[in-house]
Amino acid sequence: MSRNILVTGGAGYIGSHTVLQLLLGGYKAVVVDNLDNSSETSINRVRELAGKHGSNLIFHQMDLRDKPALEKLFASQTFDAVIHFAGLKAVGEKVMAAHGCKKLVFSSSATVYGWPKVVPCTEEFPICAMNPYGQTKLFIEEMCRDIYKSDSEWKIILLRYFNPVGAHSSGYIGEDPRGIPNNLMPFVQQVAVGRRPELTVFGTDYGTKDGTGVRDYIHVVDLADGHIAALSKLSDPSIGCEVYNLGTGKGTSVLEMVAAFEKASGKEIPIVKAGRRPGDAEIVYASTEKAERELNWKAKYGIDEMCQDQWNWASKNPYGYGSPEPTK
Ligand code: UD1
Repeated sequence: MSRNILVTGGAGYIGSHTVLQLLLGGYKAVVVDNLDNSSETSINRVRELAGKHGSNLIFHQMDLRDKPALEKLFASQTFDAVIHFAGLKAVGEKVMAAHGCKKLVFSSSATVYGWPKVVPCTEEFPICAMNPYGQTKLFIEEMCRDIYKSDSEWKIILLRYFNPVGAHSSGYIGEDPRGIPNNLMPFVQQVAVGRRPELTVFGTDYGTKDGTGVRDYIHVVDLADGHIAALSKLSDPSIGCEVYNLGTGKGTSVLEMVAAFEKASGKEIPIVKAGRRPGDAEIVYASTEKAERELNWKAKYGIDEMCQDQWNWASKNPYGYGSPEPTK
């Protein structure tokens, strides 16, 4: 029987891509999402993209803080593991344990490395928070370690994402941030489709090749596949609470990223140079050794593919899921 995975926040950007890879990998996926910051359209499109596997996707519009609803869901079926994307601290852990499900994949972030003294960042680096978002990731990572310490039956994998970009190659699902995007590539994408006049480059005086910040951009489909690898790892009897970086190990500057996107889209991205953004680090990229060695996972795509796929999504859906229905 195929394994049944509960995916919280599965309608969002990374969640939807992961659910698709799960279905294609023969898993059943039950998605719980309150659609606060996502759209049900992404679920419908994932179902379509999954073809014959589409019927293995069940969606519940539900808030994770609704404990009775969560209890009911866990009572109705058995989950082999939970992948927790939802941007909320949940009563989930307690409900999971009560129903004998003690396997969890949690989305952490490279933000926990703060401003690293050296790169690449290995999983053993000290962790810290440079902003409230980082604080929540740090806090939940600690909670996970504590849960494992108090009950060694738990198997938990914390995935530290570097900078996810791009979209599924169909251009049918992708990132659709509400409001003004904070992150680089969603912003660039909105400039390319004419929704914003220019990109502000935050900081041109860093000690990097061209003075702009350097990050480890990773294709969202590679990132999604990293979750499938993590799920397999949860079946390893020796695993307790482990952390893995999901990155490519390559650093790319803001200007390099803009140039790659211009090439992929054929659009000019006007830029305005500005001062550094508070809380930003200079250079952050991953050591990928541990994930390669223990998860048997390695990112496949480079910057050009990330930009091509992001442009494919953007040009077909200039207003995200609010755009008129695209052709596949
Ligand atoms: C940001 C978050 C981080 C989170 C990560 C998720 C902040 C301070 N950090 O990190 O907590 O884990 O996203 O992917 O919000 N840039 C511009 N102009 C823009 C936007 C960004 O020049 O309009 C630059 C930034 O200065 C940075 C690079 O682009 O050098 C990447 O920025 P961003 O996409 O926001 O990612 P992070 O800074 O890595």
